[in-house]
Amino acid sequence: MTQINVTLPTTDQSLRMEQYYRLHSKIYDATRWSFLFGRRQIIDKVAALRTPSHILEVGCGTGKNLVALGQTFPQAKIIGLDISESMLSVARKNLGSMTKRISLLCTSYDQSLKLAQSFDLILFSYSLTMMNPGWDQAIEQAYHDLADDGLIAAVDFHNSRLTGFKKWMAVNHVRMDGHIYEKLNQRFSPEIFEVQPAYGFLWQYFLFAGKK
Ligand SMILES: C[S@@+](CC[C@H](N)C(=O)[O-])C[C@H]1O[C@@H](n2cnc3c(N)ncnc32)[C@H](O)[C@@H]1O
Repeated sequence: MTQINVTLPTTDQSLRMEQYYRLHSKIYDATRWSFLFGRRQIIDKVAALRTPSHILEVGCGTGKNLVALGQTFPQAKIIGLDISESMLSVARKNLGSMTKRISLLCTSYDQSLKLAQSFDLILFSYSLTMMNPGWDQAIEQAYHDLADDGLIAAVDFHNSRLTGFKKWMAVNHVRMDGHIYEKLNQRFSPEIFEVQPAYGFLWQYFLFAGKK
């Protein structure tokens, strides 16, 4: 695996995320399957539309999607980026034999990556609702880093009617206000756009893919 190390500025966001994921990275894969819905679905839906050769996942966490992307697009070069070194250290283990063509980058996605390439797929999976502040800058950065015919794809929490539930999610650093789906639909031309219910009325999540 190519490990690209970047010195992280210790911003509030990077400290908050590292503090949260120092513990949660250890239980992440065992617990998140029960509520981070749609992660496999968005990759399968994108695969029905495109065969990307340069892929970036922003907020790749423990690398579950990187493995799925690697299997779905065996010819692609893939970069997984995350602000939390604790999450990336689990990803490093999960990538196993895919480490030769999947690179990991520890940085915040609110500035140019200064890579001499654009991407034909940029995936955000349950990361944009945790970028507070910075979600809007990240969407703008993806617009900039996306190839002209490329796709931005996202799966994330959308909204909930239950104020108490939204407050609980905020304690877990998630902002659930319908703001991400709205912004993506404004900034990109949608090719996939779905809002789905989770556990009845508890919350909604969305799937989105669009081009510039
Ligand atoms: C809920 S996890 C999602 C992980 C993975 N994409 C998945 O679907 O399982 C959110 C991830 O976003 C990362 N993250 C939060 N803010 C970030 C930022 N500004 N830049 C890069 N990654 C960030 C967190 O460290 C965390 O690993």
